[in-house]
Amino acid sequence: MSIYGDYIKSVIRTVPNWPEQGVNFRDITPLLQNSAAFRKLIESFVHRYRDMQLDAIASIDARGFIVGAPLAYELGTSFVPVRKKGKLPFKTVSETYKLEYGHSEVELHADAFRPNDRILLVDDLIATGGTMLAAANLIQRSGGRVVETSTIIDLPELGGSQKIRDAGYGVFAVCS
Ligand code: PRP
Ligand code: ADE
Repeated sequence: MSIYGDYIKSVIRTVPNWPEQGVNFRDITPLLQNSAAFRKLIESFVHRYRDMQLDAIASIDARGFIVGAPLAYELGTSFVPVRKKGKLPFKTVSETYKLEYGHSEVELHADAFRPNDRILLVDDLIATGGTMLAAANLIQRSGGRVVETSTIIDLPELGGSQKIRDAGYGVFAVCS
């Protein structure tokens, strides 16, 4: 939990049974509409990472970009988009991961960062952890060093953050 964790949690809306029965969807749009809350969210990440000598912030298509880009701006690092399959025009590297039903794929540009760059990987939410873990493995496989994985919301009851830790990556969540 971060400095503003309880406050940030209080401005996230839970929508029951969306997009399907049994899913409690964590909707961050009320947080984004609230300018004070949005600033505190970015400050929570800045507070944790400002002394970590990061080279780049990588974040995951699409909601991860909402946090990753302002964080890179604030910390003075470069920004690396990890995109869903088929969106990047240059030479790519990719990693497939399992969804509840079927598979998905994340991609990086092959020249997205320098070898051994210290990279923070950010997304909005960890559920099963499949997306974050695939992105972290892709960055490591491409020669970057994942300093930590970081999220606004962790849903620990789904086991995703534990899975990411078991794979050897740190996990930071603003709230859970
Ligand atoms: C959501 C969320 C995370 C991922 C978490 O993305 O933004 O990236 O699911 O789920 P997991 O931990 O089970 O992998 P989604 O694929 O819905 O895309 P979006 O950001 O474009 O809405
Ligand atoms: N992505 C995967 N599970 C989610 C949830 N419960 N809320 C919002 N985004 C999600």
